[in-house]
Amino acid sequence: MLKSGTFKGKTIIITGGGTGLGRSIGKYLLELGANLVITSRKKEVLDKTASELEQQTGGKVLAVACDVRKYEEIVNVIKETENRFGKVDAVLNNAAGNFISPTERLSHRAFDIVVDIVLRGTYYTTLAAGKNWIERKQPGIFLNIVTTYAWTGSGYVVPSACGKAGVLALTRSLAVEWAKYNIRSNAIAPGPFPTEGAWSRLLPGELVKKFDPAKRVPLGRVGEHQELANLAAYLLSDYSAYMNGEVVTIDGGEWLKNGGEFSHLEMVPNEMWDMLEKTRGK
Ligand code: HXC
Ligand code: NAP
Repeated sequence: MLKSGTFKGKTIIITGGGTGLGRSIGKYLLELGANLVITSRKKEVLDKTASELEQQTGGKVLAVACDVRKYEEIVNVIKETENRFGKVDAVLNNAAGNFISPTERLSHRAFDIVVDIVLRGTYYTTLAAGKNWIERKQPGIFLNIVTTYAWTGSGYVVPSACGKAGVLALTRSLAVEWAKYNIRSNAIAPGPFPTEGAWSRLLPGELVKKFDPAKRVPLGRVGEHQELANLAAYLLSDYSAYMNGEVVTIDGGEWLKNGGEFSHLEMVPNEMWDMLEKTRGK
């Protein structure tokens, strides 16, 4: 979508960049000329992704293991990035943890495990990168991946909903506070985009056969990774220089449909509408 060379000379860190959506976005950034840094807990996954992406795109990828719940490990990612590429230009906060469960069945630790990755991890990464940019007096861009239930809330994923709502608040708060340092913060709220990580945790076992996420979407399908990558690349680029504090939904209309009072009327067949039209005003 963007011009080739859009990210020439720019270095972008993606947390959770070894798999799923982070990986797909990373691939597109490389195609547009970025230097890429991918981080997550599993070094062997990162190394495999780094070498495959380098082969596919001809770009440069640095893989650094890092648990976003450990502040010093994030500081180390930034140090390693500076050693290899000189500086960090943007950060995509994409790492997350999630599972479905009735809330009353959760242990208290289950909340911690998800919120620590999603909210604390995003805060730690943001703080470490922000301090680095402010100290170096250089501009920076944050892009945070949330979900549409960050503002509606959602049963059965309560820890994730709380974590993502916090990330949305963080995005909007720092968009204002750190604008004076030329640091922008935006978020993307994706609807369903098939990934191994999300599908295995949110549609485990038989659920995948019972619930087709595409049926909830007015456009009648799930998202394609490249569609999300296009939006992420725009928000990470200087083309979006006047966007700050925004959350962009990319869900085929899913959350609005399910919030709309009369959206269920799509089940009414044409014959019934014909009949209703005839009885109108009688
Ligand atoms: C209930 C669970 C659980 C489950 C773990 N726990 N899985 N409770 N249902 N399915 C509880 C355990 O009982 C335990 O508490 C505590 O959580 C920690 O469990 P561990 O197995 O030790 O956790 P860990 O090995 O660290 O695994 C973390 C994880 C895992 C979050 C549970 O799924 C993970 O690593 N995920 C990373 C990737 C991921 O989730 N990707 C999907 C993102 S999709 P006790 O008290 O028993 O010790 C996404 C999409 C959103 O966010 C929107 C879609 C439209
Ligand atoms: P995914 O492949 O499971 O991605 C999650 C990534 O986070 C993994 O690479 C994982 O790697 C990493 N991670 C987990 N815990 C971590 C930790 N403590 N420290 C560092 N990294 C950690 O799933 P995905 O679907 O691509 O999700 C990516 C993002 O999109 C998430 O923010 C998710 O909430 C969001 N999202 C997805 C969908 C969807 O439909 N797929 C919809 C809305 C929002 P390790 O296990 O190696 O650490």
